[in-house]
Amino acid sequence: MRFVWIFRVFFISVFLNGTCGDRGNLKKFWKPCFVGDQIENTCTDPSNSCHGKSDKQFKLVRLEGVKTGHVQWLEVDDGRKPVKLITRAMTPLVLVVISLYVEIPDFLSEEECDHIITLAKESGLQTSTSGYFTYDGDLDEELALADSDWTLAPEQAFAGNYSLWDANGDGSIDAQEVKAFAGKHKQLYLDDEEVQEMVKHLQINDELRDGRIKEQFFNKLNINKIMRYMNFLKDKSPRHRFRFSQQAWLRQDKTADPVLRRLHERVIRLTKLPRRIVQGGEPMQVLRYEKFGHYHGHLDSTIKDPTVPCCHQNHLRAPDCRVCRFITILYYLNNVEEGGETAFLIADNTTTTPDEIENSKAATNEFNLSINCHSANLVLPPMKGTAIMWYNNFIDPDSGLLGAVDRSTYHGGCDVIKGEKWIANNWLTAPTKYSKHIKSMFDTGFD
Ligand code: OGA
Ligand code: FE2
Repeated sequence: MRFVWIFRVFFISVFLNGTCGDRGNLKKFWKPCFVGDQIENTCTDPSNSCHGKSDKQFKLVRLEGVKTGHVQWLEVDDGRKPVKLITRAMTPLVLVVISLYVEIPDFLSEEECDHIITLAKESGLQTSTSGYFTYDGDLDEELALADSDWTLAPEQAFAGNYSLWDANGDGSIDAQEVKAFAGKHKQLYLDDEEVQEMVKHLQINDELRDGRIKEQFFNKLNINKIMRYMNFLKDKSPRHRFRFSQQAWLRQDKTADPVLRRLHERVIRLTKLPRRIVQGGEPMQVLRYEKFGHYHGHLDSTIKDPTVPCCHQNHLRAPDCRVCRFITILYYLNNVEEGGETAFLIADNTTTTPDEIENSKAATNEFNLSINCHSANLVLPPMKGTAIMWYNNFIDPDSGLLGAVDRSTYHGGCDVIKGEKWIANNWLTAPTKYSKHIKSMFDTGFD
């Protein structure tokens, strides 16, 4: 047994370094292209059916939510009792899939959750955006560069405008205004201590009058250095990143692990979607968040001109394609000691519209779930074995295929306070009326 395990680890470490799109020797760990680092295959012409024609005409369906709090029972797996589906919000339609009695296995059993975590660990977890693990630069060296060159890059030129800092126009900038500036213009969310630390590090603390920066003093400051400091935190410090987690991708097709294949069948029965659609979904993404891990408010599908090709049908990478994820099914794979909730910012909201939060993105900390988790409208705590599901896009009424993005689906993962959080995502992609002739690049055959 032990020998088999050692062999497996060896096998994985030797063969897993394949490139994006490389199905290699280890089929269950195939990395999809548009999230990978390198693009090898290109299929740039949306009229070209380079992935094979989609042979069947089909239409998408959405489950009925009925109303918030509504309960439905669904048979999703032969030999298991039905699962309970609770509508937790109508806009967007968020369904929580669990079972009623503790003795009934949940949507995923404990063993299945543990198994998926093991597979993800074996496949090798990577940080969500490359950067801080490999960062070996030196902050002070970076700042020293700014000492010899005070010029602000054109995209940072706004930072030289005193009135953007002095939000209340009282002729001085205080710590709160520094925080607001960073949040508003840099999407960098600092706390009081971090502002103090920055002021100290940049050696401007001695010259502050009552902890405030007057315009005269501001005009003598090296703003380029302040911007470099902020950029450094934003890019390199895990806590300040928009997303702080590690991930692995697990394939779910006919060559996949039996647990993942069985789950795939359950998803077909749950969503009532044509098999072909579920087959064309992305490989399963497994995410691990450690302490302070989070994912600020975002949409899972991209808002773009509907004629822009979908990434799953063309081996392109954003911004040349858009992510067309009709459904997200998110599985909680463990119980988190504290924190790690999934928050839907404006679910069932009758007062705040997507327009309002999108426009206020620059003005507030709205999307910062490290501090705004509990002011979100729907906050779901992670519960091992429970799945939550929602529709990122509407159905286009003319074609029955992927329609506009539902902008009320803004959501994210709140900070893990204690322990760690493991989740998995099944993103079910779908074609649009412009691309219905192109097969999903993930549809590699299941039967
Ligand atoms: C995601 C996501 C939420 C969470 O991975 O896209 O929204 O609770 N995650 O981790
Ligand atoms: Fe998401």
